[in-house]
Amino acid sequence: MADPTVEQLEARVRARPLPRHVAIIMDGNGRWAETRGLPRVAGHREGSEAVRAVTRTARRVGLEALTLYAFSAENWARPDEEVGALMQLLADYLESERAEMMQNGIRLNAIGELDRLPGFVRERLDAARAETAGNDRMVLTLALSYGGRQELVHAARAAAAARGPALDADDLEAALWTRGLPELDLLVRTSGERRISNFLLWQCAYAELYFSEVLWPDFRDAALLEAIASFQARERRFGLTGAQVARPERG
Ligand code: FPP
Repeated sequence: MADPTVEQLEARVRARPLPRHVAIIMDGNGRWAETRGLPRVAGHREGSEAVRAVTRTARRVGLEALTLYAFSAENWARPDEEVGALMQLLADYLESERAEMMQNGIRLNAIGELDRLPGFVRERLDAARAETAGNDRMVLTLALSYGGRQELVHAARAAAAARGPALDADDLEAALWTRGLPELDLLVRTSGERRISNFLLWQCAYAELYFSEVLWPDFRDAALLEAIASFQARERRFGLTGAQVARPERG
């Protein structure tokens, strides 16, 4: 049988309960460029196009939250030229996407050690967050200078300062940078690597994991829809037995 078209995939995905919150480790930009004999930065540039396309698809199918790992705390150690190019791409993206975010009701959010970002990125980030603050169709979170362990240390300190040794899981969760976002349902990683790489460590507790062989710059609407369809075919048990879990949507 022929592979389903994007329209068929989208219709199938829309007919079943959607994940509320999808997060993506966007990996493979460098390899995408290197296999074409191009500088790594060319892979990041094409990766920005994939960000635009995937955000549009996520919004169209009706995800509530999309979280993208755009720059890790460890990425600062990459060559200066690559870090500089990534910061410029981010600034360009934040400037060029504001109008579309407004049109599509997308609220921009950011998590990570944002004060480490250069001023010209931070200014555009703050402007885009302020302009889109009233939007409520989907929240797009960029993880920037982000590390899951760093987030947990930050949250533990804040929760301990507020609650002392009596702090519990709810207190810690309320101090995470992701507070207020829906529970993470699906974590996607592209490019065939099967690691979490310090992303959303707490939030992954009951997320479904999906690993795609596709390099991030090639990850477009069909690839996202396939990831969502895979999620929809799974049974989530949250530590219970299969018999305990109601399965009304499975046929
Ligand atoms: C990982 O690929 C990707 C990154 C470190 C950066 C991700 C950045 C973008 C997708 C573009 C800019 C972001 C936005 C939001 C506009 P890699 O370089 O580690 O790839 P490799 O493993 O093949 O070397």
